[in-house]
Amino acid sequence: MRLKKLSLINFKNLAQQDIELEPSINCFVGDNGTCKTNIVDAIHYLAMCKSALGMSDSQCVLHGEEFFVVDGAFENEEGRKEQVICSYKRGNQKVIKRNDKAYERFSDHMGLIPTVIVSPADSMLISDSAEERRKYINAFISQFDRDYLAAMIRYNGALAERNKYLKIGSDEQMLLIYDMQLASAAEKIYERRKEMIEKLLPAVAEYYKILSDDRETVSLAYRTDLEEGELTELLLKSREKDLILGHTTVGIHRDDIHFTIGDVPLRKYGSQGQQKSFIIALKLAQYQIIAEQTGKTPILLLDDVFDKLDESRVAELIALVASDSFGQIVITDCSHERMERLLANSGADYKLFDVTYGKVL
Ligand SMILES: Nc1ncnc2c1ncn2[C@@H]1O[C@H](COP(=O)(O)OP(=O)(O)OP(=O)(O)O)[C@@H](O)[C@H]1O
Ligand SMILES: [Mg+2]
Repeated sequence: MRLKKLSLINFKNLAQQDIELEPSINCFVGDNGTCKTNIVDAIHYLAMCKSALGMSDSQCVLHGEEFFVVDGAFENEEGRKEQVICSYKRGNQKVIKRNDKAYERFSDHMGLIPTVIVSPADSMLISDSAEERRKYINAFISQFDRDYLAAMIRYNGALAERNKYLKIGSDEQMLLIYDMQLASAAEKIYERRKEMIEKLLPAVAEYYKILSDDRETVSLAYRTDLEEGELTELLLKSREKDLILGHTTVGIHRDDIHFTIGDVPLRKYGSQGQQKSFIIALKLAQYQIIAEQTGKTPILLLDDVFDKLDESRVAELIALVASDSFGQIVITDCSHERMERLLANSGADYKLFDVTYGKVL
């Protein structure tokens, strides 16, 4: 998939902007606080229907204005055009349209514009709670598996109901129904998470090896209650405890992914550069899997990735993404000179866009 033209009205600090993008590397360069991340976030909206930074729709409207519009003209691998427009007016629901037709459910849009983003906000994946990692794996799998997203919605619904019921009742039959609903949705989620984490593992290790010049080895492992048995049995075993605590204490809502470097936790022992390299390796592995699963070439968004990386890792990364296996790429960086030098050395096709506050020059 490729974005040919991005048009923005009142999106964050961009009052009005049209950007024609190249099919290869597009690099936005400018000082801190200009609009580089805002441009990346606008593309993220078109792919995932929301901000990559956890900003609400109303926070994304230019201060003092009433609405925003993000309009993307895309072209897929077969040359088919897709227009995606995301618009939001304060006090109203946001609307996402594909070729002039509004979606009833945003989940139907998932996967049309496969995208992988690497951004400074990803450090949360390492430092924050397991919930961040679950959100990550959900967003990842949802891009190519609608049934997974549907199973997540069913699971969360059943979990909320069961938790509510645990506080007011203890009827065995009722609990059994909730347990069966949870278990049937969890099976699909568990299988898919397990499969995808197994696929990620060798690819992350390989990309990390390239980025770090073979200096360290990294790994990741899926942690889930379901390793210990069938969810219906686990729920039955924990029922008494759940009734006392008033919530469900086993299930895939407690899953986690452990990241390690040289067999020790990455969060504790990884340096900032190592953690950043890990995230990049993880995202490139994700890219590879989405491409395999969908047969499409995702758009790769690299926001501020070079910060904290030494020169050799930066050069490896550029060489890697400039290779044929990656399609359209959007990169942001503070230094025009540095990017010009690195990209010219890579031999790849690229376009540099200089930006200032709220404007692409
Ligand atoms: N809704 C909004 N209305 C107006 N301005 C906004 C809005 N949301 C964000 N901004 C502003 O947009 C500016 C640019 O932000 P952005 O994150 O794109 O900068 P950046 O170019 O990525 O900088 P850095 O190099 O520091 O990452 C910031 O000053 C921010 O406060
Ligand atoms: Mg930024």
